[in-house]
Amino acid sequence: MTEDLLDGGERLGREELAALQLERLRATLRHAYENVEFYRRSFDAAGVGPDDCRTLADLARFPFTAKSDLRDHYPFGMFAVDESRIRRIHASSGTTGLPTVVGYTEGDLDVWADVVARSLRAAGVRPGHKVHVAYGYGLFTGGLGAHYGAERLGCTVIPASGGMTARQVRLIQDFRPEVIMVTPSYMLTLLDEFERQGVDPRATSLEVGVFGAEPWTEEMRKEIEERFAIDAVDIYGLSEVMGPGVAQECVETKDGLHIWEDHFYPEIVDPFTGEVLPDGEEGELVFTSLTKEAMPVIRYRTRDLTRLLPGTARVFRRMEKVTGRSDDMIILRGVNLFPTQIEEIVLRTPAVAPHFQLRLTREGRLDALTVRVEARADATPGQRVEAARTIAATVKDGIGVSVGVEVVDPETLERSVGKIRRIVDLRESA
Ligand code: DLL
Repeated sequence: MTEDLLDGGERLGREELAALQLERLRATLRHAYENVEFYRRSFDAAGVGPDDCRTLADLARFPFTAKSDLRDHYPFGMFAVDESRIRRIHASSGTTGLPTVVGYTEGDLDVWADVVARSLRAAGVRPGHKVHVAYGYGLFTGGLGAHYGAERLGCTVIPASGGMTARQVRLIQDFRPEVIMVTPSYMLTLLDEFERQGVDPRATSLEVGVFGAEPWTEEMRKEIEERFAIDAVDIYGLSEVMGPGVAQECVETKDGLHIWEDHFYPEIVDPFTGEVLPDGEEGELVFTSLTKEAMPVIRYRTRDLTRLLPGTARVFRRMEKVTGRSDDMIILRGVNLFPTQIEEIVLRTPAVAPHFQLRLTREGRLDALTVRVEARADATPGQRVEAARTIAATVKDGIGVSVGVEVVDPETLERSVGKIRRIVDLRESA
């Protein structure tokens, strides 16, 4: 990456960055304390005030913010500016209960477009490229977040949004985008559609895919890169903190995601005790916004599990690819298991397709897990039996727990049009 492709924030040295972070952190703590009743109360209850943050490490003295705190103040109770200054509202559709609502000032939208533009540059996208955005447009932050960032970089945006899969394939062939932004699971749905239409997915104009909004593995990267002949890189973000563009993998290294630390301050904490863990140790990712006006977040618990690593292609620290959310962790007869671990195994197994579902049931007093995975179209009955045996044995050896495996017919499992739901929990009704 040549220097002239970096923006001002990316050129800072580690010390300058730390000084900027501290200045912005102190301003954010003050802004939150003075303008959001929730923060005033929670800081007071913990006996800390904005002036108690003299070093970056002092942040650990401040209380956490959880998703439930945002829900408790639905819809606009976490806003730190007058509603007349809010230019946009997004919301994340919680699977249960109320959505969490986020607001943006003009300044916030400007920063967001900048960090997404920076992310896209790191992904290898350049001004003049055409970007097909297949993240959903609407209250979800994926579509519009990607859209304005790509425009900011000087790209031509194709706002396809999610769904209408056959039309997506048509548009990709006709408009010839170099870049696609979509969830990795929907990219697999597109792959099927290319094949159904008899179009070679390796022969498209696509060069780069910027995939995020759900966990995906190195095996999935390999699958997508080979099947489409593109570079596949990871983009991370969450609505409560901003949306896509909180962290991004660089195409030249593909070694985890650089966190845009001049805007989002990361910590890793022990998910049970809340204690801050040193860099390199795995735990729950926590973010404090450093420049947000409308809705600053202080020590927001993401529930995403990862670890912090030193910078490589950029000065900013990296986060390792997210293993999963603590909410998605299955505890099966005392063994912890994430859908990404099954993804790795399924994608390494011949004769099965990268489409799978995890079905949880109760057998007597014990929970049982069945991996339902699709056979590849050309798999023989013998290969299907062999694949089921291999997957069960690999899960038993590698993860240490017995699971059932069912190899089902091609095209029988539900396809993703956005974020995929891997776990089907049938335990209540069992
Ligand atoms: O998913 C924002 C986004 C849109 C990111 C498009 C990237 C691309 P939410 O709907 O609020 O926001 O969901 C946030 O999704 O806490 C993670 O659990 C998960 N997630 C997002 N990106 C990744 C990723 C958007 N690259 C939640 N890897 C987060 C793993 C991810 N998980």
